[in-house]
Amino acid sequence: MESLWLSTAPPVPSDPFIPSAEYDVVVAGAGLTGLAAALLLARSGQKVAVLEARQVGAVTSGNTTAKVSLLQGVQLSTIASHQGADAVRDYVNANRAGQDWLLRFCRDHGVDHDIRTAYTYALSEKGRQSLEAEFSAATAAGLSPQMTLETELPFEVSGALELPGQAQIHPLQALAALAAELQAAGGTLVQGIRVTGAGKAADNRVRVLTPSGSVSARHLVLATGIPILDRGGYFARLLPLRSYAMAHPIRGAVPQGMYLSVDSPSRSLRTARVGGTDYLISGGNGHAVGRHPHPQSLVEDLSRWTTHHFAVADPIYAWSAQDYEPASGVPYVGQVPFGDGSIFAATGFNKWGMTNAVAAALALSQAIAPAAEGDGALNWYQPKLSSRDVLTAVRDNAEVGLEMLAGWASSLAGADESAPPEGQGKVVRKNLRPVGICTVDGEISRVSAVCPHLGGVLAWNDAEASWDCPLHGSRFAADGRLLEGPAVRGLDRG
Ligand SMILES: Cc1cc2nc3c(=O)[nH]c(=O)nc-3n(C[C@H](O)[C@H](O)[C@H](O)COP(=O)(O)OP(=O)(O)OC[C@H]3O[C@@H](n4cnc5c(N)ncnc54)[C@H](O)[C@@H]3O)c2cc1C
Ligand code: FES
Repeated sequence: MESLWLSTAPPVPSDPFIPSAEYDVVVAGAGLTGLAAALLLARSGQKVAVLEARQVGAVTSGNTTAKVSLLQGVQLSTIASHQGADAVRDYVNANRAGQDWLLRFCRDHGVDHDIRTAYTYALSEKGRQSLEAEFSAATAAGLSPQMTLETELPFEVSGALELPGQAQIHPLQALAALAAELQAAGGTLVQGIRVTGAGKAADNRVRVLTPSGSVSARHLVLATGIPILDRGGYFARLLPLRSYAMAHPIRGAVPQGMYLSVDSPSRSLRTARVGGTDYLISGGNGHAVGRHPHPQSLVEDLSRWTTHHFAVADPIYAWSAQDYEPASGVPYVGQVPFGDGSIFAATGFNKWGMTNAVAAALALSQAIAPAAEGDGALNWYQPKLSSRDVLTAVRDNAEVGLEMLAGWASSLAGADESAPPEGQGKVVRKNLRPVGICTVDGEISRVSAVCPHLGGVLAWNDAEASWDCPLHGSRFAADGRLLEGPAVRGLDRG
């Protein structure tokens, strides 16, 4: 399942990896966070290298729906309930800075983007009450949304919030332009090289480890989605959530605004014109990674909903992606605890990374190089964990513990090692160890079904033909290759 964006991505050249090279800053990850931070640092005169495990935009930034919006579902009322009104104001200001920077960059570099009105809508009475809470939080933070019953949707809503002047972009065009300017400014971008760890080098520098050798830097930025080094206790405070998207060619009049529902199942809409074709992009049906028994049914459900309500053809592109929900309600951005102040991370964007990633990049680059562009708005990046957040984290971790037990227990239940039907996978017991067996394109693969991160038992994802970890969201291809998540290596043979 490849996204519309990755299927139509401009090529991005890769630089060679030079073992033992010395940099001012190494950035791990070439999504929006990593490339924006790297460019800001390179512009301020830093010698920067980006090391990307796969290719530019391979993970969430290339599989997003790419609304660049300050109207963010119920994000602001959620932050208000966790952190209070001042935190919402700081969050909105930082996101506005991120939005302004990204849209200015798109204008200056000819990146496709459209200005649109954003809507958050409800169908139920409970949903309408959520909109009222969001309206209060947004208004207190200086935004001016309007409550309305008038939308372009072909069904009645119980309420909607609208905020004009928001935007939608082609994220891979933006990433390619960031990469090109980074390389023109003297930065290095290496694709296909995974950072596997970090240690100390001479003169208080960080040694950045990869399977092809190490490099050193004064600072390391982990822009890897979920951080790969858990020196900040991140795994216990982030819930990985996966959801689905598809692009349908438009056959008649469709809504031109950007829509998001507050009721469950979540629904998201936007349009995109790519290569002369107009698409309606629908999204939703999110769930915790590795914890849905039949993800393909969610793809089919989303497609049915879209073709039922809108004048569109069957989808040409369908894809899915994950982002990380923070227990504190706000992203974690800043120095990693116990990293001697030289390692930084940015995570927990809760599906609002188009503005948050750039806001994080502005803050991180200025913290590393005070001469870098930015507005010094680091104060929203120091979330306090309230007792309620601790309870949320405890609940999420209790669920992680139960998933761990359930995974090991169910894997011990079956020992039938016969190959499953095409497109299917199963976990069976072999010498008391869980083994994953799947059939994809006629090829049968047998892999260890134990996640090399912290030992979760993997589940088969029939939408992506992948092995997904229900604990912290690492994902692996049918043959065991690492796709994403905090793990730094693939699966052993089964
Ligand atoms: C379905 C979906 C829809 C969304 N829609 C929106 C939206 O409409 N608007 C919005 O604002 N936000 C949206 N988001 C959120 C947004 O897309 C993300 O928050 C944002 O893209 C995250 O960017 P990132 O650079 O931090 O992470 P990523 O894009 O995931 O980049 C991380 C990069 O690090 C690389 N990497 C990982 N490990 C290593 C390693 N060990 N060494 C080297 N490289 C490594 C990965 O390969 C990857 O390229 C959505 C998210 C999802 C899941
Ligand atoms: S991702 Fe942590 S155990 Fe699998």
